[in-house]
Amino acid sequence: MTVQSLTLVQPDDWHLHLRDGSVLSRTVQDSARQFGRAIIMPNLTPPVTTTAMAREYKARLDAQNTSLQALMTLYLTDHTSAEDIRQAHASGIVLAAKLYPAGATTNSAAGVTAMEKVYEAIATMEAIGMPLLLHGEITHDNVDIFDREKGFIDTQLIPLLDRFPGLRLVFEHITTQQAAEFVQQAGANVGATITPQHLMYNRNHLLVGGIKPHLYCLPVLKRNIHQQALQDAVASGNPRFFLGTDSAPHALGAKQSACGCAGCYSSPAAIELYAQTFEELGILDKLEAFASFNGANFYGLPYNKKTITLVREDWQIPHSLDYAGDIIIPLAAGETLRWKQKV
Ligand code: NCD
Ligand code: ZN
Repeated sequence: MTVQSLTLVQPDDWHLHLRDGSVLSRTVQDSARQFGRAIIMPNLTPPVTTTAMAREYKARLDAQNTSLQALMTLYLTDHTSAEDIRQAHASGIVLAAKLYPAGATTNSAAGVTAMEKVYEAIATMEAIGMPLLLHGEITHDNVDIFDREKGFIDTQLIPLLDRFPGLRLVFEHITTQQAAEFVQQAGANVGATITPQHLMYNRNHLLVGGIKPHLYCLPVLKRNIHQQALQDAVASGNPRFFLGTDSAPHALGAKQSACGCAGCYSSPAAIELYAQTFEELGILDKLEAFASFNGANFYGLPYNKKTITLVREDWQIPHSLDYAGDIIIPLAAGETLRWKQKV
C-alpha cells in the first residue's frame, strides 16, 4: 500500500541564505513553515565578519517573530584572527565559520584568497571544536567551472585535513562523485550538505532546450553521473550526509539577466521537494534521518521536539511569489508536487 502520510521529527536546514532587510518577511517565514533551525549564511553586503554583526543580524531575523531558530555563522576573511573565532564561539550564537574562496560565488569578494591566510583561525577552530563550513570550489580563471569542486578537493581540502586532522568540517552543497566519495572515506569529523536541486537535476536540465536561469546555482549542476552519485550517497544512509537547501533567493530581474545571479530559491517547497525525490528514488524511509537527525548529530544538537506531517496531496508550486514588492521565481515553479505539508 502506498504511504499516504508521513510524520517526521521537524527537520532543520543546515545551509540557508535569508538575505536582509524587507525581504526577510518572505524568506524567514518560508523556512519557518517547515524547518526548526537553520544555519544562516553570512554572505550579506557587507558580510557578517564579526560576532557583533552576527548578533545584530540574528536580532533582525528574530524580529520576524517566527519559530525558526537562527544559528549564526561568521564569514572568514584573510584577516579573521584566532581571537575573532574565540569570541564568536564564546557568544553562544555563532555555531560555525564559513569559508568562501574569494570570488567563488555570490558576495564572496571579501572571502579568503589563500588557505594559509586563515591557518591561525582554523587552528583555533580545530582546538575548540567549531565547525568550518566550506564552499568547496577553486576559482582560478584557467580551471573549468565543472572541475572546480574536484580541484578544490585535490589542492585545498586534502592538504587542509592533513594539517588539521581533527577539524570539524562541512563540505557544503556537494555536487560531484568525487566530493561524495571524499566524505564517505573521511572520518566522523567530516560531513556534507546536499541540496534538492543537485539531487533532482543535472546540467542537461540547466542547458538543453534553452538556458534555465532559475536552475543556475553554484556550484553549478554537473553531469548526470554526479547527480547519480549524490542520490547514491543519500540512499546509502551514511549519517554524515544531511539536508542543506542552499536556498538562495534573488529577485527575478537579477536571475533573468545578461549576467544572471547564482542561486535557487527552494524554501517555499523544500521539504516536499526532498520528499518527492526520495520517494522517486525508493528511499522515503531514509528521509527523516537525512532531514532531521544527521545534521543535529553532526552539530551536537538535540533533535527538534515538534513533528511535521506531509500528506499525499497534489499541489502546484506557484509560478512566482512576491519578494518585498519585487518578484521571485521559486525552484520548480509551476510543477506539481505529490507531497504537501499539513499546516
Ligand atoms: C549563493 C547565494 O546566492 O548567496 N548562491 C548559490 O548559487 N548557491 C551563494 C552560495 O552558496 O554559493
Ligand atoms: Zn549557499
